[in-house]
Amino acid sequence: MTNWMVAGNWKMNTTSSEAIALAQSVRDATPRLSEGEIVLAPPFTVLSSVNEIVKGSHIKLAAQNIFYEDKGAYTGEISPAMLKDVGCTYVIIGHSERRKYFHETDETVNLKVKKGLGSGLKCIICVGETEEEREKGVMEFVVGIQIKKAMSGIEALDNVVIAYEPVWAIGTGKNATSAEAEEMHHFIRNVLGETYGDVVNKVRILYGGSVTPENIGELIGMKNINGALVGGASLKSETFIGIIKRMTEKR
Ligand code: 13P
Repeated sequence: MTNWMVAGNWKMNTTSSEAIALAQSVRDATPRLSEGEIVLAPPFTVLSSVNEIVKGSHIKLAAQNIFYEDKGAYTGEISPAMLKDVGCTYVIIGHSERRKYFHETDETVNLKVKKGLGSGLKCIICVGETEEEREKGVMEFVVGIQIKKAMSGIEALDNVVIAYEPVWAIGTGKNATSAEAEEMHHFIRNVLGETYGDVVNKVRILYGGSVTPENIGELIGMKNINGALVGGASLKSETFIGIIKRMTEKR
C-alpha cells in the first residue's frame, strides 16, 4: 500500500504561539508527497491558527474529538460544521484517553463516527486493549468488539482510518513490537473484511503508542501497518519530521 498516513496528535498541548511555530516548522521541512498524507491534530483552540499555516499546503488538519449533534445546548461541545469551518478534513474519534477520562463508550464512538462521516469529515477511529487485557490474552476479543461497535451501521469504508493504539504503549516509551502490532492490524483488517469485503485492503490502519523516528522503520515494514498516529514525538518538529522522513524513505 502506498497511501500511508502519519498523523500528529498534539493532545492537550500547545499555546497559540507554540502551535504556530510547530506547524510552520513541520510544513516547511516536509515534502509535498505524491503518495501518503501528513495530518496535524492540534487542540480546538488553535485549529484556526494552524489552519492558516497549513491551508493550501500538503498538510491536512484534524480535530481530536467531535460531538454527535449538529448544534444546540451542549455546553463545551464542538460540532462537525464547526470543525469544517476551521479547515478540518479529519477527526480523531474514540481515543483511549477519551474513553478512560471522559467515559466515552463504544456506543458514543459509533454516534460520533456516524455524525462525522455523515457530515463529510474523515474519521480516524482509535481502538486498543489495556495491559491487563493483553496479559489475559483477550486483546482480539476486546479490539474486535470496539471495531464492530464503532462501525455499526456504517456502509462504506471510504473515509475511515483505523488507529490501533494499545493503551499500554501510549506515552510509556514501550511500543508494541512490529510483530505484536502486525498481528493486531492483520486481525483488524480481517474483522473489517467480514463486513466490507476486499475493499478492506485499501483501508489505512495506523499504529499508535510510543512511535519514534527510531522504531517507525520496523513498524511500517509490516504488511498491514499503514502509518502512525504519533503523540509525544509529534510535539517536537525534529522527531515528527524524522518519522515522516523515515516513511518517505521506506515506501
Ligand atoms: P504517544 O506517541 O505519546 O505514545 O501517544 C500515542 C497516542 O496516543 C497518539 O494518539
